[in-house]
Amino acid sequence: MTTSAAKPGSACVDPAAIPQRTLWTGAKMPAVGLGTFGSDHVSAAQVAEAVGGAAAVGYRHFDCASVYGNEIEVGAALESIQRGGIKRDELWVTSKLWNDKHAESDVIAQCRKSLADLRLNYLDLYLVHWPFPNFHAPGCDVSSRSADAKPYIHENYMKTWRKMEELVDLGLVRHIGASNMTIPKLKLVLRDARIKPAVNEMELHPHFQQPELFKYVLDNGIQPIGYCPLGSPGRPERDRTPEDTAPTEDSVILEIARRHGVNPAAICIKWAVQRGQTPIPFSVNHYRDNLECVTHDPLSDEEMQTIARLDRNCRLIKGQVFLWKDGQTWEALWDVDGEVTPA
Ligand SMILES: NC(=O)c1ccc[n+]([C@@H]2O[C@H](COP(=O)([O-])OP(=O)(O)OC[C@H]3O[C@@H](n4cnc5c(N)ncnc54)[C@H](OP(=O)(O)O)[C@@H]3O)[C@@H](O)[C@H]2O)c1
Repeated sequence: MTTSAAKPGSACVDPAAIPQRTLWTGAKMPAVGLGTFGSDHVSAAQVAEAVGGAAAVGYRHFDCASVYGNEIEVGAALESIQRGGIKRDELWVTSKLWNDKHAESDVIAQCRKSLADLRLNYLDLYLVHWPFPNFHAPGCDVSSRSADAKPYIHENYMKTWRKMEELVDLGLVRHIGASNMTIPKLKLVLRDARIKPAVNEMELHPHFQQPELFKYVLDNGIQPIGYCPLGSPGRPERDRTPEDTAPTEDSVILEIARRHGVNPAAICIKWAVQRGQTPIPFSVNHYRDNLECVTHDPLSDEEMQTIARLDRNCRLIKGQVFLWKDGQTWEALWDVDGEVTPA
């Protein structure tokens, strides 16, 4: 039993009170979504229960992925939500193509599998989960490397992207997008895409604000979806390093939370929505609070500016398993020199 699942008579959040983002197509996407990656310690059944509970308290946006290993269970929850009277077109469902399925012959089949698992006949948004086609086993150590790991090869990414575009033509997905991209990679995709990405899903929280990339995507009509909006306090051990910091433990965030009489997580989510990104906090225990907090008592301009100064450039999801050469450090994945890191 989750602590924030809808209870009879308990107040729900009106979905109309949640801000919406307008994508370049004109479509509207709710500016808060529920993440569904159980970080290896929350079971598929618990995540599915949270999806059902979250819809009951007013969530309409769900961030899914085949690699989260729970689309079958989440799909049953989505079906039951619709049977309960919420119409398909009131929902926003995202899924993602995993890294070992970038081959042209795999993309459409993989999307159809996610659709079947999620019991939907279209997705609102389908993302290329990572720009690297490198398979690694779920749960493997960060030092693990795939023997045939490859760098970002733009021609190959575009072959995958052409199939993503075909998914739109086929009516299987309404929008396509990118995830974990950098400015140099996005520049190439924007140059060559027939259907441009509607979003870039990227790590965003007060300690990792990515100001340049954030501005770049907005300037180019791409909506930023922010993952790990709370600094992913439940992430697996393998994704932690001694340098990592926790935005929800930041003394400034704690002080602003005290002033507003809320949990520090609520401050991170209010900040994200007011800044202009779409946070997708994962939760099985606090999802009601995470939605409700954006409907009232906004942060002041001064508080927004104070949080802007908290950026520590602290990337938590570094992606080490995607490195393709010995002796590289994770920064190579993120094009920190301003161009796509050479092979
Ligand atoms: N595109 C990508 O490559 C990518 C990468 C990473 C993540 N994602 C997506 O982003 C989502 C969110 O990221 P994340 O799950 O890593 O991190 P997160 O949302 O920053 O943190 C989730 C953790 O915070 C806790 N929490 C949530 N609300 C809270 C509150 N109000 N008070 C206290 N604790 C709270 C949750 O515990 P409880 O369950 O107990 O509430 C959970 O342990 C994922 O689920 C996934 O959908 C995408």
